[in-house]
Amino acid sequence: MSGINYSEKIPNNVNIAGDRTLQRALEHWQPKFLGWWQALGPTDFQGADVYLRTAISVDAQGWAHYGAVKMPDYRWGIFLADPAAERKIGFGDQMGQPVWQQVPGEYRSTLRRLIVTQGDTEPASVEQQRLLGHTCPSMYDLRNLFQINVEEGRHLWAMVYLLHAYFGRDGREEAEELLARHSGDADKPRILTTFNEPISDWLSLFCFTYFTDRDGKYQLKSLSESAFDPLSRTCRFMLTEEAHHMFVGETGLGRVVKRTLEVMKQIGSDDPARVRAAGAVDLPTLQKYLNFWCSSSLDLFGSEISSNSAANFANGLKGRPDEDQYEDHVLREKTLSLVTPEGEQQVPMLNALNEVMRESYLKDCEIGLKRWNRQIERAGHPLRLTLPSTRFRRSIGAWAGKPVDPQGKIMEKELYEKTLTTWIPSASDRAFVHSLMQRVVEPGKMAGWIAPPERGVNNLPVEYEYVKLH
Ligand SMILES: [Fe+2]
Ligand SMILES: [Fe+2]
Repeated sequence: MSGINYSEKIPNNVNIAGDRTLQRALEHWQPKFLGWWQALGPTDFQGADVYLRTAISVDAQGWAHYGAVKMPDYRWGIFLADPAAERKIGFGDQMGQPVWQQVPGEYRSTLRRLIVTQGDTEPASVEQQRLLGHTCPSMYDLRNLFQINVEEGRHLWAMVYLLHAYFGRDGREEAEELLARHSGDADKPRILTTFNEPISDWLSLFCFTYFTDRDGKYQLKSLSESAFDPLSRTCRFMLTEEAHHMFVGETGLGRVVKRTLEVMKQIGSDDPARVRAAGAVDLPTLQKYLNFWCSSSLDLFGSEISSNSAANFANGLKGRPDEDQYEDHVLREKTLSLVTPEGEQQVPMLNALNEVMRESYLKDCEIGLKRWNRQIERAGHPLRLTLPSTRFRRSIGAWAGKPVDPQGKIMEKELYEKTLTTWIPSASDRAFVHSLMQRVVEPGKMAGWIAPPERGVNNLPVEYEYVKLH
């Protein structure tokens, strides 16, 4: 069951060949996907041989098969985690009943919307990252970028499969739209704001993969709980790939901190101007990038008080990440106290689930910061990196547009606007970071602003030629 059939045009473990209508629909969409990849995927590297992992089965051993591949030849396919026998709905008002193998009519449009919203983020991030190959800090990093890109492409396949297989004609139309919207496009932007932010430097990429891919992890975890079993199985398998994207973010930022500390030691100063002059990212600038990407990603969880999230939970469409760690899976009796600009209020727990998810996401984000702060402390510096308050720079929910500092305190609007560029990257901060982005592609060499990784990919040395550029 868990093996993937590579003899077919579209590699899969869901027996597409047994469903002619579905096969035709997917084969019709495939050339459009490849056209999109050529037009909006990574620029200029389509002929390079990249050391990539491809899933050949969905069990623990088989999902990471390594070898040199040209990206347009990557075997994008449809892989669902193995079904759990006799799986029952794990939360909401229908808890304990068998999960659904088909979409119930009454939840059709809501489920389609959830799938489309998730699906839209996948190609969006490929579009956002398409120019980064030109300024990679090392060949190792270049390979990691491309690994993420092809996997986000496969995540799009995962969602398109669900649309084609379970949503008929509207599903096919939505699949076309997923290739028609583009990140940052004035007329047809991507659905969520964060996925329209340009990612034009590698510091932003590492922040994006640390914060925004981690939002992806939380969304996928909550969809893995879904009573709609094909969605649950799809998302469970996507999570194995997502872990690598966050690894790139966490180790990338850790390597930036390490290099900055080395430079501070060499020059015997923590003066940001001197650190910059020595070619490293000063820690206050790193803090601004963390503030920017963390606050932007916090919006992805939606409003603090949400009737949609209540309905999705009660109906069994979307659970909490790691639902079985909670005791109460119905939540009809519970409340949560929430602080909004209007003051503290008790909100039915069902309506506060976005906030519950946001809080557990932030705890997960803290892990990396603790590690980096230990490095900084060991080097004898007083500065500590922090995460901004969930009220800072929000565009969605109770705190949207409110003048709040990164610690969460409301301040005067005028002062807030004046101070904002001391909390998030200013134009000159961005210009400085851009000036560091010089391409380094000699195997084993690193740009001056980042430390080498601790180890290479799949037990290969860091000096391995991960991308053969020809
Ligand atoms: Fe993804
Ligand atoms: Fe991802």
